[in-house]
Amino acid sequence: MNISFSALALPGSGALVVMVTEGGVLCKTAQDIDRKCGGAITRAIKAGRFEGKSEQALEILSPAGLDISRVLLVGVGKPDDFKALSAEKTGALIIDRLSMSGEKQVTVAIDEIAKSALKSEMLAAHLAAGARLRAYRFDKYRTRLKDSDKPSLTKFIVMCAKTAAAKNAYAVLDHVLNGVFAARDLVNEPANTLYPAEFAKRARALGKLGLKVEVLNEAQMAKLGMGSLLAVGQGSSKESQLVVLHWKGAPKSKKPPLAIVGKGVCFDSGGISLKPGAGMGDMKGDMGGAAAVFGVMAALAGRRAKANVIGVLACVENMPGPDAQRPGDIITSMSGQTIEVLNTDAEGRLVLADAMTYVQRKYKPRAVIDLATLTGAITIALGDVYAGLFSNKDDLCAQIDAAGKAVGELVWRMPMGSQYDAKIKSKFADMQNISSAAGAGSITAAQFLLRFVEKDIPWAHLDIAGVAWTSDAKPSWGSGYGVRLLDRLIADNYEE
Ligand code: BES
Ligand code: MN
Ligand code: ZN
Repeated sequence: MNISFSALALPGSGALVVMVTEGGVLCKTAQDIDRKCGGAITRAIKAGRFEGKSEQALEILSPAGLDISRVLLVGVGKPDDFKALSAEKTGALIIDRLSMSGEKQVTVAIDEIAKSALKSEMLAAHLAAGARLRAYRFDKYRTRLKDSDKPSLTKFIVMCAKTAAAKNAYAVLDHVLNGVFAARDLVNEPANTLYPAEFAKRARALGKLGLKVEVLNEAQMAKLGMGSLLAVGQGSSKESQLVVLHWKGAPKSKKPPLAIVGKGVCFDSGGISLKPGAGMGDMKGDMGGAAAVFGVMAALAGRRAKANVIGVLACVENMPGPDAQRPGDIITSMSGQTIEVLNTDAEGRLVLADAMTYVQRKYKPRAVIDLATLTGAITIALGDVYAGLFSNKDDLCAQIDAAGKAVGELVWRMPMGSQYDAKIKSKFADMQNISSAAGAGSITAAQFLLRFVEKDIPWAHLDIAGVAWTSDAKPSWGSGYGVRLLDRLIADNYEE
């Protein structure tokens, strides 16, 4: 989608979008064209039960007296409720209505919405961002796509009074959207093409944005004692990789960096504790945490964020095979703690444990945040609406919650405590990798991770198993969840 900004002037062709607030009140451009076409807009509103509620839309085809091919009225609801996220929803709605419609070009008239707190240039930028997010497609593997199955809409023009300000605001968002798309591409990519070494290769390519990229192979990880991460990958013919991305946007800062760690299980078959067949294909997305970290690091570099952030991608493939770890195996993590592996399908925590120890011991970060498609149980609790948030620090939770609300990637804090920790005591080792009791699977997984948090380090864990991909695949199966949240968290709290 080609997105551009221009001054307010009625277009001579294509579709025109005008805004209507609740109660059917026409914004300025809508009034202008209503006059030009003899009141057709007002009549259509009456005939079409259109009230200007948010997410309502109404189309008028070939309006008489105008050169354009259609007018799309979009409802913006109550002006005082209209915020950045509402503007993004409006942009998405326009794409839903027009991308396959036959129109090649749309011009959106952004008028000042009276009584709205959102300035018109920000409205313009966020509406454009919402449109671009919705226009994403993953058509890489479709070789027989008919023209009629491809979007007709390729040009999206946003008309507003303060074009330069809108462009500048959009340019920042655009870098973040590039990060979201990078994450979606990675999650959508199948596991036969996206295995750990390929993930690392794509990470190396981020070097061109100014990121420093390091990749640890299995021999290097073995030297560091990462017996927990390596145990997960040992059943696969694909080599495990630990990718460390560095963004130094605040070189003079005296503060330690922020560390973000992503679970990068490129395919999770369950290993010897094999998963059932139905739905197993979804497990190509079990690297959604690493994809989010990849995406946000790309976004930070793209927008030259004034923060120091280290992103770790813990990439492995969990497969059964003659060399795979067995239930009952006892492994030694980099932290020195031993783990009895009672279920090889509880592999994400094993991978994260060593990645977390590594980043904490090497960089003494200000805080560690991990993202992982860690448990099916979190989808039982929260569905596809909220990610589960687990933490040892209230302030960090408040920051994450606020960032999530601001960008529409919601989190819900879950409880933790010694009563849950007691459930991962092992008969033979320092801990076991699954709970000895039924229930609270997401919490016991988080308690496991907490055992790998070093003294005094603020830590938060986002269980994104329910939100990393969507069932309806519109516009993308992989959601890119986490990129916008982390970008916002860093923008609001970690930049200098
Ligand atoms: N990758 C899965 C979790 C998952 C499930 C993500 C469904 C997305 C959708 C994870 O590795 C896993 O298998 N967890 C097990 C843990 C259990 C064995 C304690 C689970 O949730 O069943
Ligand atoms: Mn698993
Ligand atoms: Zn998994």
